[in-house]
Amino acid sequence: MKWNAKWIRPVVDMGDVCPVFFTTFACPKEIHSAVLSITATGVYEAVLNEKRVGEFVLAPGWTDYDYRLQVQQYDVTALLAAQNHLKVTVGKGWYRSPMPGRVSPERREKLDRFSAGLTAELILIFADGTSQRISTDETWKAAESPVRFSEIYNGETFDASFIASASFPAEVFDGPTKTLIPQQGEEVREQERLVPASIFITPAGETVVDFGQEVTGYVEISVDAAAGDRIELSHAEVMDKQGNFYTENYRSAKAKYIYICKDSKQTYKPKMTFFGFRYIRIDSFPGGVSNAKPENFTAVVVHSQMDRTGYLRSSNPLLNKLFDNVIWGQKGNFVDVPTDCPQRDERLGWTGDAQAFIRTACLNYDTEKFFTKWLADMAAGQKESGLVGHVVPNILNNKEASAAWDDAAVICPWALYLAYGNPEILSAQYECMKKWVSYITTHTTTEYLWTGGTHFGDWLGLDAPVGSYKGSTRADFIASAFYANAVMLVIKAGKVLGKDVSDYEVLYEKIVAAFRQAYPAYTTQTECVLAAHFKLAPDCQAAADLLAAMVKNCGTKLQTGFVGTPYLLHVLSDYGYTKLAYDLLLRTEYPSWLYPVTKGATTIWEHWDGIMENGDFWSADMNSFNHYAYGAVADWVYCQAAGINTIEEHPGYEKVKIAPLPDKRLDWLEASLKTYHGQIRSRWQKQEDQWRYEIDTPVDAVVVIDGTEYQVGKGSYVFYSKC
Ligand code: BGC
Repeated sequence: MKWNAKWIRPVVDMGDVCPVFFTTFACPKEIHSAVLSITATGVYEAVLNEKRVGEFVLAPGWTDYDYRLQVQQYDVTALLAAQNHLKVTVGKGWYRSPMPGRVSPERREKLDRFSAGLTAELILIFADGTSQRISTDETWKAAESPVRFSEIYNGETFDASFIASASFPAEVFDGPTKTLIPQQGEEVREQERLVPASIFITPAGETVVDFGQEVTGYVEISVDAAAGDRIELSHAEVMDKQGNFYTENYRSAKAKYIYICKDSKQTYKPKMTFFGFRYIRIDSFPGGVSNAKPENFTAVVVHSQMDRTGYLRSSNPLLNKLFDNVIWGQKGNFVDVPTDCPQRDERLGWTGDAQAFIRTACLNYDTEKFFTKWLADMAAGQKESGLVGHVVPNILNNKEASAAWDDAAVICPWALYLAYGNPEILSAQYECMKKWVSYITTHTTTEYLWTGGTHFGDWLGLDAPVGSYKGSTRADFIASAFYANAVMLVIKAGKVLGKDVSDYEVLYEKIVAAFRQAYPAYTTQTECVLAAHFKLAPDCQAAADLLAAMVKNCGTKLQTGFVGTPYLLHVLSDYGYTKLAYDLLLRTEYPSWLYPVTKGATTIWEHWDGIMENGDFWSADMNSFNHYAYGAVADWVYCQAAGINTIEEHPGYEKVKIAPLPDKRLDWLEASLKTYHGQIRSRWQKQEDQWRYEIDTPVDAVVVIDGTEYQVGKGSYVFYSKC
């Protein structure tokens, strides 16, 4: 975008302290409008005349900064006075925080050398039609701010009693201008506030506040104190078996919040970091930790702006808790990019997790804008080879792609298109989709299959050999199946866009033939799932039959990991095993979706047994309690249990198929979905020996009840079938 303002940075090195940049200006005439355009290399908070500008927390958000840095625009007309003071604090944010868990020492060093930079332009339009431009340049000043330390993983230190003794000139530097783009994504904002559920002392004698819900955000402190008093908070997701505060699973992320008080009553919350937590430990408090009271703390929930569209409810309280946990998993991991988890030293845009969850994400919330921006970062950062990265923004810079992870390149645009019906996402991503296919074609060691390379496999599958995170499903099997799927999605997208896809159609046929020859038999649940779901098996019914037998033979248990789980129940119910799908959904013993619920989960766990039956943790190394991936099961509940589906030829629910699949173990189940065409509702309920179905559709629908199809127009309908 066209950009006139200069980049500025402090002339002195302030170390960990966040600089505050400021300027003053007069507004000599009656004002008509004033717009501030601004961005930073880090995250910023702008304050005009002591009032915060806008609601965007952690602005300018996280993009692939090598290619794209968003500029925000705020209407600040209402904040102006005759004499004005504009100040902007810049923290490290995603631009400059070292990513302790994953980033190489070289990159860390490079990050340390980056400057806290700011560029901004305020355009004042006066009532008489004249205008004035105030933009960052060498006339601005910089000083140390009370934010003594702030970064994404380790937290924040704020000294409310700090008064800067000196200010320095700001220095103009050659910051990024070619990469500036207008704000594309949703704003991250404060969304909810939770008061403590309890405050208690652990067996280890520590004082802990429980907010009753794992959230992503930060804690607001309200306290009456004296200057220099210190409040120190640590964050945790769970308490250990003994009831003590547990932080080992945060790995190297310190996740600490330190507040140094000023005199008298004060309220403060961190400005430029976030935490994933349910509990806080009070490590220090004015007059001693025993003085801390629940009213001193409020959890502020922060996530990207998204309108809630989908709701699930049933007669089963455990299932309802699971649905709530899926929602909280989404809220907690949709902080500008879809992350694996919000707490430990990762919080990265893992592509595998996003492709597993995207269908559910699009049902729960309107995520079109959120994902459109993330996919644009994916396309921008895609390598010449077609590799898109294990994470987007691709800060890991992995040299090899992994099947089912980089496949987000094709799966996510298609999911968005189906959910919202807008072909623009396909035209925006089509080149990226094709390049991804070409990566596979040129990197495989066997033509028409995808063999070789290093993959995450069926990550965390329960059939993993001891000591491995990868399930037993053959890596080449997964990769080849996703290759076929990728080509199929390019074909579908190409057809929507009116492209010639004949070469891809030929390629697809060859892949399917090669796949059938290479993999005549399936050895794991995930292999059966992929063969049937991607329609690669010569006889999909037989693959599903084998899957059902495998599930039953191991005691009606799933063994699938990140790759197989999202499609597992779909395959079962698509091929006549609806009861078995419900067996898995309603199972409460490990492994199952409801097992964590019985253990008090308030979000979705990374592992089926994050907390084991005996109360021990699965591991300290890889044990997040807010990992949305397995929450993908909600998509089965919306689409199969309640039966709400868009029709591929009429995407975005322009026309729908509603084919509910009730189960006697539930008295009722209801799903509702706000679409761009109106609200869809599907409810079934036991009524003596009958099922009563209530269906509201805002568009033409095909309703399938107990195998019989009804074509209906928009309206509300009641159907019955035998129970
Ligand atoms: C993340 C996962 C991710 C995986 C790749 C983990 O550390 O938390 O969710 O997909 O790495 O295998």
